[in-house]
Amino acid sequence: MTTTVSRAGVGRAPVQDEAVLHTRFTELFGVRHPIVQGGMQWVGRAELVAAVANAGALGFLTMLTQPTPEDLVKEIARTRELTDQPFGVNFTILPTITPPPYAEYRAAIIESGITIVETAGNLPTEHVEALKPVGVRIIHKCTSVRHALKAESIGVDAVSIDGFECAGHPGEDDVTGLVLIPATTERLRIPVIASGGIADARGLVAALALGAEGVNMGTRFLCTAESPIHDDVKQAIVAASERDTDLILRPLGNTTRVARNAVSREVVQRLHDGGTFDDVRDLVAGVRGRSVYETGDIDRGVWSVGQSQGLVHDIPTVAELVSRIIDEAVDIINGRLAALTRR
Ligand SMILES: Cc1cc2nc3c(=O)[nH]c(=O)nc-3n(C[C@H](O)[C@H](O)[C@H](O)COP(=O)(O)O)c2cc1C
Repeated sequence: MTTTVSRAGVGRAPVQDEAVLHTRFTELFGVRHPIVQGGMQWVGRAELVAAVANAGALGFLTMLTQPTPEDLVKEIARTRELTDQPFGVNFTILPTITPPPYAEYRAAIIESGITIVETAGNLPTEHVEALKPVGVRIIHKCTSVRHALKAESIGVDAVSIDGFECAGHPGEDDVTGLVLIPATTERLRIPVIASGGIADARGLVAALALGAEGVNMGTRFLCTAESPIHDDVKQAIVAASERDTDLILRPLGNTTRVARNAVSREVVQRLHDGGTFDDVRDLVAGVRGRSVYETGDIDRGVWSVGQSQGLVHDIPTVAELVSRIIDEAVDIINGRLAALTRR
């Protein structure tokens, strides 16, 4: 791992416009800060992604939030009107019986001139084969060392490793970041982004210490001023603790971490009682989750959130958040941690 903290980091004013933490990730992806906003269904839209890009971090539009490839092209264009900084598209590959038209979405990404893609879900072999030759850099997000090694072997440029703490799909192995991050960084040659449970500078510095070269955050960015969801949902995140999530769909091998509410409890109970997917299909429907974000009624459906909500205490702008994290990370490295070696 190569991480350098420039001397400019000591006792300065906010550093949003200044690159102070340099890793192979920041170099390879051309961003100022080693911070990623991962794909978020219904949330990863132009407003949020452009704000992340303008703050010097790497944001991802969520491909499947756009109903058609043509809509994705328009959303990419809309993002470009809001920023001239690099951003990417999240390409989530779902285990569905009737898959979305992935090849057409992929063509839309290429035709729009996008050069960074975050893949997630199934191994993206055919997509890597199509995207790499046209110069697209790929971060594959996964939840185990074996999947990370496989992704490296098919030629992705970096891996995001999602610990058990994360929002959305933590996999079925239940290994938390404290073990999963170093277990991955000691096996991979390409840069590793630590994901899951990270919401502040302490998480960033810890991730760097564990060998990662950047962090990926979902929950923290979900609760920012530019996040395009109802304010009541953001207030609910601020009020919630790290204990207020549920793991749903576990008996079906599709574990998903969501905010604990009346619907998530009902889903857990029905499957615990021997129910099948048909018994919970309506409860977990994407349209219900989407309406939570639109109406602010947090009990309308299931919606993804991670344990890191226990570390979220405010609703800053993205620029405030990124500069705060970088500033405090530099202070921790050059201050508290450096002081330990001087004793
Ligand atoms: C509301 C929400 C929706 C998400 N949707 C997706 C998605 O569609 N595709 C994906 O790859 N990851 C998705 N994620 C996962 C994030 O990209 C990221 O990996 C995860 O949130 C990291 O854990 P953290 O929430 O503890 O930061 C979602 C996360 C949240 C909070």
